Amino acid sequence: MSTTAVGPQIVGAELKGVRSVATSMPLDALSREILELKKRLNAVILAHNYQVPEIQDIADYVGDSLGLSQQAAKTSAEVIVFCGVHFMAETAKILNPNKIVVLPDLDAGCSLEESCPAPKLKALQATNSNFWTIAYINCSAEVKALCDVICTSGNAVKIVKAAPPDRDLLFVPDENLGAWVMEQTGRPMTLWKGNCYVHVEWTHAAITRIRRDYPAAPVVAHPECTKAVRMLADEVCSTEKMVMYCKQSPAPAIIIATEAGMLHRLKKECPGKIFIPAPTDRCACNECRYMKMNTLEKVYDCMANLAPQVTLSPEIIQRARLPIERMLEISVRDTLANAG
Ligand code: 13P
Ligand code: SF4
Repeated sequence: MSTTAVGPQIVGAELKGVRSVATSMPLDALSREILELKKRLNAVILAHNYQVPEIQDIADYVGDSLGLSQQAAKTSAEVIVFCGVHFMAETAKILNPNKIVVLPDLDAGCSLEESCPAPKLKALQATNSNFWTIAYINCSAEVKALCDVICTSGNAVKIVKAAPPDRDLLFVPDENLGAWVMEQTGRPMTLWKGNCYVHVEWTHAAITRIRRDYPAAPVVAHPECTKAVRMLADEVCSTEKMVMYCKQSPAPAIIIATEAGMLHRLKKECPGKIFIPAPTDRCACNECRYMKMNTLEKVYDCMANLAPQVTLSPEIIQRARLPIERMLEISVRDTLANAG
């Protein structure tokens, strides 16, 4: 199907009146409708590991931020249905300026992105002309446009190791991921004071208690957790690396300190293993409210209407693309070096 044939007007007209049926449809029927629509649109559905199970189950690819940006960089689909949060869909748009990128809910933000407005970053950068700015992908396109290179939790150590040795490193916006990378690389960095409001809920006391309850179960934690939690973990890694760790681990039960959506993916990939969600002290608040804004109904609607779309100015796309491409290039280089 050509790009012109997949205009929003055509799709909207074809599907007029279907939307109200979709909202009252059982989930399995809605999933079938989505897959049918996907064929007609020549679309690809990319979903983050934290999405609700029914979205993960209809996606072409489910993974972490690095895997999702790699998929976005190589897709030949004309429409990208991005089931994740806004900064992830923006990254897909930056890599595919001529494609339609839809996000089920445009308000699906991120506390890390919110913590780092571009003008404040610009002001900090102006204090040191020798800064080399590394931005965690959890930031806006405007912030990416101000940075030298992007990283994800899956490649942050590699990206910092590849940074020019004579530059002063500025790492934004996650102070916990940044601190973990400093521990791993020994490279000092100035850290932006942002955090993930979900991952800072886990505490040393809560993890110590769950370890006592399940002494044989290893603890796997995301690097967005605080140091007090990371120091109790057997493995600290990105969500995709959690899948690899859990597959390879001989342990029958594993404690998981990351967003709740991860458990669906892990149960699917490691049938027979038991996954114990790490408890927090205050509540069972291990769900990201932003990730959970997307629903199967909204996925259907955004495909039927080709809206809401992610839009960015050509100038921001051009400036934000270089640091993302740098990241993808370093990741490939490193993977090839390890293979060879
Ligand atoms: P991953 O890239 O490890 O999936 O992490 C993304 C994220 O938003 C974690 O909170
Ligand atoms: Fe952002 Fe935290 Fe939600 Fe990930 S889990 S999208 S870092 S708020």
